[in-house]
Amino acid sequence: MRTIDWVDGAVELVDQTRLPGECVMLRLHTVAELVDAIQRLAVRGAPALGVAGALGVVLAGGDPAEIAGLRAARPTAVNLAWGVDQAVAHLAEGHEAVLAAALRVRDDDIAACLAMGERGADLLEGDRLRIMTVCNTGGLAAVERGTALGVVQTLHERGRLAEVLALETRPLLQGARLTTWELARMGAPHRLIADSAGPYLLAKGEVDAVLIGADRIAANGDTANKIGSYALALGAERAGVPFIVVAPETTIDPATPSGEHIEIEDRGDEEIVTVHGVRVAPEGTRALNPAFDVTPHDLITAIVTDKRVIRP
Ligand code: MRU
Repeated sequence: MRTIDWVDGAVELVDQTRLPGECVMLRLHTVAELVDAIQRLAVRGAPALGVAGALGVVLAGGDPAEIAGLRAARPTAVNLAWGVDQAVAHLAEGHEAVLAAALRVRDDDIAACLAMGERGADLLEGDRLRIMTVCNTGGLAAVERGTALGVVQTLHERGRLAEVLALETRPLLQGARLTTWELARMGAPHRLIADSAGPYLLAKGEVDAVLIGADRIAANGDTANKIGSYALALGAERAGVPFIVVAPETTIDPATPSGEHIEIEDRGDEEIVTVHGVRVAPEGTRALNPAFDVTPHDLITAIVTDKRVIRP
């Protein structure tokens, strides 16, 4: 199954807001529909957003306002703007060339995820690995296989995975809803933990490596990823556990010198004061909702891409 694809003249994608209850495909014909799907996280995860951006340019048919709106639909993952730019570069050559460029973004992502899985599994030492991860970095965040969870999948296929401890990932529960769903489909042993349990379990010696994805890697290696990543990096450093970022080269943004220049999306009060639509905080409670945080490069043991291993 592909998370996102171009099928008979439209963008088809898995509606991730409906998982794990139901696996429903959305068929999108307009940029407005695609932007809506991106903003409500029906499609999410940096590599999948790159493909969405590229395919969205095909839907836009060259309309500059639509392309600008798509490019800015979410600010933190550089892949969205990058994917848009890949397709826009071929606008002058006509529809078929734009479509071909967008399909190349899709195909390159499939190849990149396979390569990251192999390289990440080669890098890790040990036969019965206990991995901690946050958010969802599996096939649902890309096209077919994921980044950090792609490494987990390769480890599992090689018989080297003991267990995954997946953080639930409040407020939108990508770990609880999506990562557990993918791990179950892989047949990979896993347990779900509360986000706040991560650093404690690292300190207790329950984890051999932390594997996370990335939404944007600055030129100096500072890495923006799902909120909660920084706490795991601090816990991992204190516990002497490798903290490894797995991301395609397309997530590296040489135009952003360091983490403080990365725009962090704030998704507003509602996701914090409610859980699945049920209000948990008193009426009138204000919230702060950064969707991502930045892990400074000196807390990162290695960045594994589809081309190399970087030690920031
Ligand atoms: O808000 P989301 O669900 O789009 O956040 C996704 C993440 O933070 C992922 O870790 C990141 O995009 C890498 S996905 C392979």
